[in-house]
Amino acid sequence: MNDNQSSGVELKNVVMKFGEHTVLHNIDLIIQPGSLTTLLGPSGCGKTTILRLIAGLELPTSGQVFLGDEDVSVLSASQRDVGMVFQSYALFPHMTVGENVGYGLKMMGIVPNERTERIKESLDSVGLDGYQSRFIDQLSGGQQQRVALARALVLKPKVMLFDEPLSNLDSKLRRQMREDIRRLQQELAVTAVYVTHDQDEALAVSDEVVVMKEGGIAQQGSPKHLYLNPDSKFVATFMGDANIVEGEVSNVGGESKIKIGDIEIAADSSEHYADGKTQIAIRPEALSLIRSTTEPSLQGKVLSRAYIGASTEYRVKVNGNELFLISPTGSEEFEIGDEVHVLITPPGISPIPD
Ligand SMILES: Nc1ncnc2c1ncn2[C@@H]1O[C@H](COP(=O)(O)OP(=O)(O)OP(=O)(O)O)[C@@H](O)[C@H]1O
Ligand SMILES: [Mg+2]
Repeated sequence: MNDNQSSGVELKNVVMKFGEHTVLHNIDLIIQPGSLTTLLGPSGCGKTTILRLIAGLELPTSGQVFLGDEDVSVLSASQRDVGMVFQSYALFPHMTVGENVGYGLKMMGIVPNERTERIKESLDSVGLDGYQSRFIDQLSGGQQQRVALARALVLKPKVMLFDEPLSNLDSKLRRQMREDIRRLQQELAVTAVYVTHDQDEALAVSDEVVVMKEGGIAQQGSPKHLYLNPDSKFVATFMGDANIVEGEVSNVGGESKIKIGDIEIAADSSEHYADGKTQIAIRPEALSLIRSTTEPSLQGKVLSRAYIGASTEYRVKVNGNELFLISPTGSEEFEIGDEVHVLITPPGISPIPD
């Protein structure tokens, strides 16, 4: 359906100020053509502002915005080939589904026959062909969001922007819609920038995740890379749960080792860490409990346990620290007060220098 070549997006040294308030600090961001990149971060960190800068709804205070090779920094929204889907569907309630989807085509002067054809094709791609003559208030929330998606796709944009498109939907529908958005994005090979503050959603749909903090980029990478190799406490704790413990890194003969208590672990060989004492983030799945062992382990006592179906969550007191871990159902079970040994097994063990 998309005959256009999709464009990458680049922000070069973008600063955005509203009055005295700087909301984006020197953002350098590259979004690959045809990828789905998610901006993830707490409320107010600047996610929507970045989308609005890409769409041309705001112009940067300084710096440049590129769509493909073209510097669009000073072009208005109507001069950019960008589609947008918002949290509130922003549909026209007094128009039918077909009229809503065809509105942009009509503005562009596309003749009625072609319009009808493209509306049909676009509604079909979101599973709503046949709904053309319904009014918006005769649709469910999920269907309305699909109409909003069809309305953006029908214009065959080079870049699609999604600003928390699923936050008004219930959790089951969210999962279905996020899969549909991902499937369509891949089928059309359109570049998509997706904003959410739901980390599960970010991990599930993205090629690339950009974690933002206070108007800057904390870390960018694939979902798996960010989950397994966060480089700050902020990213480690924003993307999932992490135990933060004291440890030490030593580099010997080109290999990095991480020492936690008596346990020595080979660090992820694709990363380089500086020598010395540091904090270490450990994912709950990297920890396991055993009653007795001769292997190096941390000794502790079970403080709490919670059975949650597929797994059991434990809190264990180790050297005055509390560790949180997740044990798959089927593995040995422990009671509150049990003396245990904690083993640490990669992946999911990352030095976080800050
Ligand atoms: N038009 C504006 N005028 C003044 N300040 C603004 C304007 N738009 C956004 N801001 C401020 O810029 C900062 C970033 O806002 P933005 O909407 O980009 O955050 P966000 O990451 O999308 O947050 P949320 O998750 O709550 O949607 C906030 O402090 C906000 O108050
Ligand atoms: Mg926002």
